[in-house]
Amino acid sequence: MDIDTYLLRFKGCYFERSVVDIDLLENLDDFEIRDDDVFIITYPKSGTIWTQHILSLIYYEGHRNRTENVDTLDRAPFLEYNSRKVDFSKRPSPRIFSSHIPYYLAPRGLKNRKAKIVYTYRNPKDILISYYYFSNVVAALQAPQNLEQFMKRFLDGKVLGNLWFDHIRGWYEHKHDFNILFMKYEDMKKDLRSSVLKLCTFLEKELSEEDLDTVVRQATFQNMKINPLANYNAILKDEIGTRNDGQFLRKGAAHCLFY
Ligand code: PPS
Repeated sequence: MDIDTYLLRFKGCYFERSVVDIDLLENLDDFEIRDDDVFIITYPKSGTIWTQHILSLIYYEGHRNRTENVDTLDRAPFLEYNSRKVDFSKRPSPRIFSSHIPYYLAPRGLKNRKAKIVYTYRNPKDILISYYYFSNVVAALQAPQNLEQFMKRFLDGKVLGNLWFDHIRGWYEHKHDFNILFMKYEDMKKDLRSSVLKLCTFLEKELSEEDLDTVVRQATFQNMKINPLANYNAILKDEIGTRNDGQFLRKGAAHCLFY
């Protein structure tokens, strides 16, 4: 099987063929944006589900105190991978979305700079390794023969999300068109509390010290890994489809700190 079996190319960007919502892609420019929408945008394997979980904890008391049994995928569904067929127009505000789209596919409504975007980025070396293992796990992605072959594919941009550098540069160079906050995975790893505070300021959400502590505690790698609402284990196994026992929360390493 070749790359086209797994990936769909739309306006120069690769998407996961078996899950992507093509109708949505075709009408993305007109996708209706509310002023209080929040978008989590990432290149794959950059800390998407971590950011989803943190934002869910910031926004929803029921998520913080675990009184509501809603997983993060429903709190912050993927825009282009709407596997649970959520009617986005019926979601109560504020709506949180997740997406891997490049800047040039962003809905027009995001450009009035009202709705917020959190762009989480991570160093490409750790992304490469995370992506390599993930591609081995997920049945809908092309399984790499070995790391070397996957690295070539990654460096050629023949993966979902295309070239890491183009993705990050596109959003960064067009940051003035959007109301966007850039979050560095390695900073979140180094000082999670400051990162959560930075997010709260941007999202205009004031949390008590106690709630802040709860968010930080529940968003650690160890606690997310054992939290079925946050770890995606069941979703990976039952909805996405796997080839082995690999997990979303694999190592959570930040080797290349860029300081
Ligand atoms: S995806 O498939 O694009 O949605 O994947 P994504 O969520 O962007 O990235 C998965 C990697 O993020 C790591 N992760 C975390 N690291 C540190 N702390 C926390 N709490 C955390 N949550 C998720 C996850 O472990 C994946 O990285 P690797 O290196 O594979 O472990």
